[in-house]
Amino acid sequence: MNNRLNHLAGSVPGPRRTRFLAVTSGKGGVGKSVIAFNLADYLSASSRVLLVDADFHAGNLHLLANVVPAAGWQGTDFAGGGHPVMTRINDRLELLASAGTDGHTLPDVQTLTVFLQHLRAQASAYDFVIFDTSTGILPQTASILLSVDEVILVTTPELTALSNSYALYKVLAGKKVRPAIALLVNHEDRSDQLAYIKDKFDAITGQFLGHTPGFLGGMGHDRVMVEAVAGQTSLRRIAPEHPLSAVFAVLAARLAAGVTVDQILWETININALVADIRE
Ligand SMILES: Nc1ncnc2c1ncn2[C@@H]1O[C@H](COP(=O)(O)OP(=O)(O)OP(=O)(O)O)[C@@H](O)[C@H]1O
Ligand SMILES: [Mg+2]
Repeated sequence: MNNRLNHLAGSVPGPRRTRFLAVTSGKGGVGKSVIAFNLADYLSASSRVLLVDADFHAGNLHLLANVVPAAGWQGTDFAGGGHPVMTRINDRLELLASAGTDGHTLPDVQTLTVFLQHLRAQASAYDFVIFDTSTGILPQTASILLSVDEVILVTTPELTALSNSYALYKVLAGKKVRPAIALLVNHEDRSDQLAYIKDKFDAITGQFLGHTPGFLGGMGHDRVMVEAVAGQTSLRRIAPEHPLSAVFAVLAARLAAGVTVDQILWETININALVADIRE
């Protein structure tokens, strides 16, 4: 009886913890913002999500989502007890916009730390907080990446992008306390590039850093993404049946089920694996 009670007590779920994720890259223009936005939008089908624009120089999530932000979070006096203003994207998705492109938006690391602490303390209304970051290894971006639970490191198959991804991964992997990290390839034009990239990245990180990231497979390259950006909307809205939408849907479903980015098997979300499944 006692054992049974203990067993039952153990199975009662505790309060759900908000998961903090960041989408980042070593090289610019690889697709961070569209991936962060579409992932957040898919997650918001079943979860409460806060999307944070942490691109200090050129925040543009409000443009992708077609909303007029009330203010950028950089203007909030967190230390003085101020609260940032959220902008509604849909019933379960809100945006903390970036102040924009006036060149004065790079916060010092101390201000950023107060902001991140504020978010941790105030984010219990959300299931997920998703950061879209600036490119590269600014100290400000590093503080965000080391404060979150999980990081999606976006790369393309290009040598320069892979090399910059390695450099960024090295910074994170060298820390005692580091987030769960997974590599996500964008813009690959052949599915056979994926296994090659995974093997190479694993070999190099394993040999030199003694630690390898998870691997989320590839998004490919498809005009539907360009059309979603031009229409200032999400893939879920304009092309829910498209294979690229399916990748986001499955990735969001795995995350919502509690699987961390480094534990998701890429074969289960990869576009070609999915298409092959559908054909069978
Ligand atoms: N899988 C894809 N297929 C087709 N086009 C894509 C894909 N991913 C991204 N794009 C295109 O690339 C553009 C740049 O993407 P995005 O702005 O998300 O990159 P970024 O990494 O956030 O750039 P930055 O470093 O400037 O912040 C998008 O506006 C979109 O047009
Ligand atoms: Mg961007």
